[in-house]
Amino acid sequence: MTTVAAPTEVHTRAPGKINVFLAVGDLQPDGYHELATAYQAVSLYEDVRARRSDDFTVQVTGGPGVDVAGVPTDDSNLALRAARLLASTTGYQGGVDLRIEKCVPVAGGMGGGSADAAAALLACDALWQTGLGRDDLLHLAAELGADVPFAFSGGTAVGTGRGDELSPALAKGQFQWVLALADFGLSTPTVYRELDEHRRRHQGDIGPVRQPVVDTGVLQALRAGDAGLLAETMHNDLQAPALHLEPGLSAVLELGESNGALAGVVSGSGPTVAFLAPDLDGALELQIALSAARLTVVRATGPVHGARVVAD
Ligand code: C5P
Repeated sequence: MTTVAAPTEVHTRAPGKINVFLAVGDLQPDGYHELATAYQAVSLYEDVRARRSDDFTVQVTGGPGVDVAGVPTDDSNLALRAARLLASTTGYQGGVDLRIEKCVPVAGGMGGGSADAAAALLACDALWQTGLGRDDLLHLAAELGADVPFAFSGGTAVGTGRGDELSPALAKGQFQWVLALADFGLSTPTVYRELDEHRRRHQGDIGPVRQPVVDTGVLQALRAGDAGLLAETMHNDLQAPALHLEPGLSAVLELGESNGALAGVVSGSGPTVAFLAPDLDGALELQIALSAARLTVVRATGPVHGARVVAD
């Protein structure tokens, strides 16, 4: 029998995401809202390097343009929580030292913390050789946060429930994104609360909240790789509350749309604004125009794969 030596370090990578469609239903008794969302994983990644240790520790650094000052390194860090959850589930007695390099904007609505958790789960699973299967890991991912299962699986998917019940969506081709990063973050619970308050204030005009569903046009656009159709059908119920909290984002959306973007949408709970470009040339032109307006801009393509082990 051949035995494989346990690795001393494992390097994993998980992607950020854009919600190309996000419909928010009612607040549920568990404090979460029912969602119907179409996720696309994009080529901004979180890299996690995990080494054996007696304790649980984490260090965080930022890639280009990513300010990590607000990322906790105590036990509230989502990657550390992922490692501890895996250890307690499997009875692993040791710890781990995690090094995270973040290229997804922090508190930007692109699921960076969720990607850290997904990458940490995968890294610790490989480092500790727990023998858990993919379904078990996805189950743990859902315990860590609504977006963590998607960061784990990647690609293009429809999320229902809290956003954690995934069904893969057919997707063709590559979409070109230009992302305008804000120099501030938005708290996800605050944005959801603002939506609830808006709905309560205007209950008489807007009526009861409908059961959320993903627009069939979005699924058709993703299946056909049709950026024009996706631009027409992109939607995010969290955009209005995010703009209400940060009115300056409206000007960012207008600037992108008047410089060649097919459409712009606040990503998740914001404040990152995701612009869909017609093609690579269009994306490059838009990147130049937005940079000239002194915005911090990065380009990304999607869909990309989910959490993976990287061979160094
Ligand atoms: O799951 P996660 O920790 O990422 O969610 C952060 C917060 O976002 C939740 O505590 C909740 O306030 C809000 N949220 C929600 N409904 C969802 C997902 C998130 O209200 N489906």
